[in-house]
Amino acid sequence: MFYDLKGKVAIVTGAGHGIGREIALSLARNGADVVITDVTDEIFEVSKQIEALKSKALPIKCDVSDFGQARGVEEQVLEKFEKTDILVNNAGIYPQKQFLDMTVEDWSKVLHINLDGVFHCTKAVIPRMISQKHGKIVNIASIAGAIVGFSNLVHYSASKAAIVGFTKSLALEVAQYGINVNAVAPGPIDVGDLMQVNSAVYEQTIKAIPLGRMGRPLDIANLVVFLGSDESSFITGQCIVSDGGYTLP
Ligand SMILES: NC(=O)c1ccc[n+]([C@@H]2O[C@H](COP(=O)([O-])OP(=O)(O)OC[C@H]3O[C@@H](n4cnc5c(N)ncnc54)[C@H](O)[C@@H]3O)[C@@H](O)[C@H]2O)c1
Repeated sequence: MFYDLKGKVAIVTGAGHGIGREIALSLARNGADVVITDVTDEIFEVSKQIEALKSKALPIKCDVSDFGQARGVEEQVLEKFEKTDILVNNAGIYPQKQFLDMTVEDWSKVLHINLDGVFHCTKAVIPRMISQKHGKIVNIASIAGAIVGFSNLVHYSASKAAIVGFTKSLALEVAQYGINVNAVAPGPIDVGDLMQVNSAVYEQTIKAIPLGRMGRPLDIANLVVFLGSDESSFITGQCIVSDGGYTLP
């Protein structure tokens, strides 16, 4: 255990797989009780892993693009834990398509999940955080859009750049209540099915990373745990890049 999150309650969206799953497990390893939400049944497996770490787990199916479902999560969390200390807005999709082929439906789907999802879940938990006079919100952005451009990801990049604007502006509004709002911008992170290991694309991506390896979900989870802990209490409105130096050149 690196940070003392004992007694803290964290909600993680998109926690069934990849970075979100690792964030949920890392929060639990540091003592937090964790609410695991996702659209898939994988949350039930993650829930068992969290209980094996001796933390409490609450798996809830939730599509973040539906405000009613986001509000339902907060109601169930308050019923079981009576508070929410940390919200990690991680759920996101990144379907690749050239702009010329991109339909209005493609655009809306990505913005609805990646950006509206952040609004819905934050809107659901913030009244409670304000009355508690503390809270930590961590939004998972991306170097795509937030720092650099990426071909075939115009919709995704727009959603992630917007998350950074959302983060900075909300941080200003809620600082008076002791709430920290930050974003993390990961570079390429190997979540298993992003690209084939040892493929040409994989090797090419590694070559573009000065630290010489793909990021791991734990690289991002470690940063999120720090931003969810009291040790980061003087940091707010920031977007912190974790990309092995990918965006430096
Ligand atoms: N993997 C990377 O290289 C990378 C880089 C930068 C940013 N990110 C961001 O990190 C976050 C996690 O990505 P990942 O690579 O772990 O992806 P992933 O596909 O492994 O996991 C994303 C999870 O979100 C869930 N999800 C999808 N739509 C949802 C919805 N409507 N409501 C709730 N959950 C939903 C999925 O079921 C999945 O379990 C995303 O926001 C992504 O944009 C990833």
